[in-house]
Amino acid sequence: MRNALALGSAPGRLRRDRASPSSAPESQPQQSHFSRVDPKVTTSADSAPRDTRNGSHLKNESHVQILDGGVVNGKSVEAFVPVRRALENGVRINVTDAEIAEALAPSIGRVLHSRDKDWRRLKRRLLLKWRTRRYRRLLSFWRQGTSEKELNYKYEGKWTPTRAFKRIDVSRDQHTPIIWGDRCYLANTAGTKRVHLLYLMDLIAQLHPRSVLEVGSGTGQNLFVLSAQFPGIAFTGLELTAAGVKTARAIASCAKLPDELARFSPRPIRDDTAHRHVEFVEGSGSSLPFPDGSFDLVYTVLALEQMERVREDALREIARVSAGAAAMIEPFRDWNASGIARNRVVAKGYFSARLSDLRSLGLEPLFTDSSLPRKLDFGVGIVVARAN
Ligand SMILES: C[S@@+](CC[C@H](N)C(=O)[O-])C[C@H]1O[C@@H](n2cnc3c(N)ncnc32)[C@H](O)[C@@H]1O
Repeated sequence: MRNALALGSAPGRLRRDRASPSSAPESQPQQSHFSRVDPKVTTSADSAPRDTRNGSHLKNESHVQILDGGVVNGKSVEAFVPVRRALENGVRINVTDAEIAEALAPSIGRVLHSRDKDWRRLKRRLLLKWRTRRYRRLLSFWRQGTSEKELNYKYEGKWTPTRAFKRIDVSRDQHTPIIWGDRCYLANTAGTKRVHLLYLMDLIAQLHPRSVLEVGSGTGQNLFVLSAQFPGIAFTGLELTAAGVKTARAIASCAKLPDELARFSPRPIRDDTAHRHVEFVEGSGSSLPFPDGSFDLVYTVLALEQMERVREDALREIARVSAGAAAMIEPFRDWNASGIARNRVVAKGYFSARLSDLRSLGLEPLFTDSSLPRKLDFGVGIVVARAN
């Protein structure tokens, strides 16, 4: 059972976590006991298996950590009481296994076992591929990370409405090896993207932010789905590429939420016109064009991964423009420490920050979970932090 680590803001006191308002009480994971850890130790173990029959986590659940709150400092507390207060009470994302399984289901082409010959062959092939690319990259002295110019070029043809919608088509017949705990699938990545949205939805339902910023919002898929779920919140996307912003604005101008986005949403749409109010700004995560404390919640989804060259500036900027909370669904180094995943991250020049780097950049980690379904060769987890 899960070794959840719950440290209250009052030092030395162990307490149970609050249930998320969006989670049905009967579907809450069972928590047998809580233990204390050194809040500085933020590394979490690999994905743990879950049981979808009753929505509860099985076996070792040490991949989830809730980290010490500490003191609120710096900014005016009055300006963002609800989010600050929610953070003080402790954040815990309670997406059930049943919800995750449901979100993934339409994306799955084939279920495999880790001992299957096919799966082991795939694993060997990936290891070879990324090890070769990693050493090729290191030998050629490529600079780590991708430049903003290269990213603009890369996405020019990719961030068109057609390709953006294809990317989120859960029935797409383009499969990649995905793992979730000890489960192995050949599935398309729209399924894992839906799970990211479930985590964000649960977090937003707990924090009640009035304004939310996504940094590296691409064509806006996350923001559109979230706005359809939380129509009262002011959502903004900041995106580097002109192509991404252009496509996102074109979608925002549709009278009704496009069917592709409605199908992509892991939960039924509440308001199919709210996407029209999402705003998009072109700019770089390394220098956000917003005043300090502009948003109650700032989040990223697989966008910091491409900001290795500006990693520290981007994290400092997230802390600066957040008035309360930050959430990052990203490949932190803690989750890509070795093996295929490490080779892939280095080969691609991806983000290599450690969770322990966040504190010095103005972000106090409160909660992490690395049990999300993910590509076999890429460790992704969520960290929720308080912006100090
Ligand atoms: C893999 S895509 C993810 C997009 C979106 N977050 C999603 O989940 O669909 C990464 C995005 O980050 C953007 N990006 C990369 N570097 C950036 C930077 N320095 N500032 C702002 N956006 C950036 C890219 O242009 C791209 O749209």
